[in-house]
Amino acid sequence: MKLMINAQPWLYAALCFLLHSSSNAKVLSSPAELTVREYDFIVVGGGTAGSVVASRLSEDPQVAVLLIEAGGSHEGLLNLEAPFLGVTLPNTAVDWNYTAVPQVGLNNRTFHYTRGYVLGGSSSVNLLTWNRGSNDLWDRWATLTGDDGWSWNQVEKYYLKTSRLVPSADGHDTIGQVDPSVHGYGPVQVSVPGFELPTDSITETASRELGGRFAFNVDFNSGNFVGTGYMQSTVGGGERSSAATAYLPPLVQSRTNLDILLNTRATKLVKSGSSKLGPIFQTVEIASSPTDKRILVSAKKEVIVSAGAFATPQLLLLSGIGPANDLKSVSITPIVDLPDVGQYLLDHALLPNYFSVSTNGTWDDLLRNPAVFNATLEEWIENRQGLFVDSPGNTLSYLRLPENSPAFNDTPDPASGPLSPHTEFIVVDGFAAFGPVPQPATGNYITILTAVVSTTSSGAVTLASSDPFDLPLIDPRLLTTSFDIEAMIQTMKDAQTFLQASPWQKAYRPVPFGDLATATTDELKAQYARQNTFTESHPSGTARMSPDQADWGVVDSKLRLKGAQGVRVVDASVFPAIPECHIQAPIYVIAERASDLIKSAYGLL
Ligand SMILES: Cc1cc2nc3c(=O)[nH]c(=O)nc-3n(C[C@H](O)[C@H](O)[C@H](O)COP(=O)(O)OP(=O)(O)OC[C@H]3O[C@@H](n4cnc5c(N)ncnc54)[C@H](O)[C@@H]3O)c2cc1C
Ligand SMILES: *[C@@H]1O[C@H](CO)[C@@H](O)[C@H](O)[C@H]1NC(C)=O
Ligand SMILES: *[C@@H]1O[C@H](CO)[C@@H](O)[C@H](O)[C@H]1NC(C)=O
Ligand SMILES: *[C@@H]1O[C@H](CO)[C@@H](O)[C@H](O)[C@H]1NC(C)=O
Ligand SMILES: *[C@@H]1O[C@H](CO)[C@@H](O)[C@H](O)[C@H]1NC(C)=O
Repeated sequence: MKLMINAQPWLYAALCFLLHSSSNAKVLSSPAELTVREYDFIVVGGGTAGSVVASRLSEDPQVAVLLIEAGGSHEGLLNLEAPFLGVTLPNTAVDWNYTAVPQVGLNNRTFHYTRGYVLGGSSSVNLLTWNRGSNDLWDRWATLTGDDGWSWNQVEKYYLKTSRLVPSADGHDTIGQVDPSVHGYGPVQVSVPGFELPTDSITETASRELGGRFAFNVDFNSGNFVGTGYMQSTVGGGERSSAATAYLPPLVQSRTNLDILLNTRATKLVKSGSSKLGPIFQTVEIASSPTDKRILVSAKKEVIVSAGAFATPQLLLLSGIGPANDLKSVSITPIVDLPDVGQYLLDHALLPNYFSVSTNGTWDDLLRNPAVFNATLEEWIENRQGLFVDSPGNTLSYLRLPENSPAFNDTPDPASGPLSPHTEFIVVDGFAAFGPVPQPATGNYITILTAVVSTTSSGAVTLASSDPFDLPLIDPRLLTTSFDIEAMIQTMKDAQTFLQASPWQKAYRPVPFGDLATATTDELKAQYARQNTFTESHPSGTARMSPDQADWGVVDSKLRLKGAQGVRVVDASVFPAIPECHIQAPIYVIAERASDLIKSAYGLL
């Protein structure tokens, strides 16, 4: 009996080998299915950035690429595919289930930090907003890294390579809602909302009535991220378009030079030699579970770490790469002393502001009535039409603070430039129960999600232990600077000013709801913010880029790990400053440029 059980994995591996050698299916579901232990490139993390890099590098049929993903396949998961249902994914099998440590700026509350545990990573579970960042943002990155290759003029070609504008799900005329001339030709599908909500035209007319800071902006992705406009989302044909669906479609997955290894974690980068640049880390230790036998795989050329803003610094730290003293305190032998690994974690603070409204047209009742919900779901399943073709929130504003804002009393303007905002608000036509407050049993509501996007608070990711299967400690320190809290108060006021415009008063007559109703002074607004803020899920900066010769930072401007050889980091960790917008598009852009840098370093096609 014992023998039988032991023989099974071998039998299974042999069977898989036969299957794989007779077909081109290259998706492996456990390390036991690996038939070779050496590739040209190993990409750790099949998420947003990792999928792009693996896809681009394997365009050259001469190179062998292994993509290692901790989670499973993205295919056939309804809640992942239907844009509106993305909000149901936190705390499910496709989520890492990270938790922030108690937040001193949030009355010591903690919150759940969702990250995609699935092919496509967080692009498979996010809320789909597509923002490429202002031109100022990229020019600032060029300055911060001393590399003009990051300036907007130089990265624009990569942006155009990432994505393309496609028709909205309902095929409506989108003239005046988006500018097709600023969009590209790449695989990620981007569209404006495909199911019209009453709040859409109200937002547009209110912005035209108020003008000034609220002025209508036909397309933020023209490079000017200030004003009010329509949401652009990674949706095509009413379905989510992710790094997995766009960059790893079946055609790419069946390339014979690309292996995609699912359900497998990199537990450590292993030192495989020495060079004049420092230790070489071209070997990766992998395992499927804590009790699994560890297996080593090696890269002849490079290991690309794309595990995301939490797992990338965790993996580096587990490998002895990071602040030497911190490593010793968890019994890890330091190999490369890089004090910035895990530091400078930046994120966007997000706050739901609820208003009760006088209309019964919001989607609140849909969520309360299983029959209506079912009919809406059927409509999506049958026709890819209806409410579920969009993520909640069809319109948004990006605002600069007034010049006399108290936020500037002791802080120089942190935004990248005049085309970059300080705050954001998203208009949701219903009660978005994303924070601590559940949807009330009756009534109609709108939610204005306010956010601080030119973040000045920063925190860190540190190890809880030396066990790679333990989650790290995550502390974004949200709302811990006077700038950030003042900016949040201002955006709460801006939301209420916006709702005073006549188009809102005619149709919805919004009235602050719950604790917001009594948050009438700045001090009470601050208290409301500290009690209800959580994350916009944009963590970044934990392996930040710096100029090539700088003695700070984690990677150089070509994304090569400092003080070592054979490793690049390509994901949100490398941001030298946080974009003043939703961050997935900048990650795709970084991944496209990184792929080009790697291809040219090795003379690949
Ligand atoms: C709920 C939510 C909503 C969001 N909404 C938006 C939005 O509307 N618009 C927007 O622009 N951005 C949004 N974001 C942010 C955006 O999606 C992420 O910033 C981005 O996708 C991160 O890309 P990445 O490549 O850095 O990491 P990820 O895409 O998270 O990829 C990391 C990958 O590495 C894998 N991995 C981790 N550790 C290991 C390991 N040890 N071994 C192997 N694999 C490993 C993970 O499973 C994952 O697949 C949202 C994020 C979330 C979670
Ligand atoms: C996240 O939590 C859910 C609910 O408890 C669980 O089903 C899922 O497996 C967890 N995810 C991971 C990666 O462990
Ligand atoms: C938060 O925790 C810290 C440290 O334990 C404590 O000093 C502080 O008073 C707490 N703040 C609140 C609002 O409870
Ligand atoms: C909204 O109210 C109107 C007028 O009372 C009513 O006719 C309509 O059926 C209501 N709609 C919903 C969705 O409840
Ligand atoms: C909707 O309800 C019907 C009848 O109860 C059921 O057969 C169907 O499976 C449901 N559809 C969905 C998408 O849940």
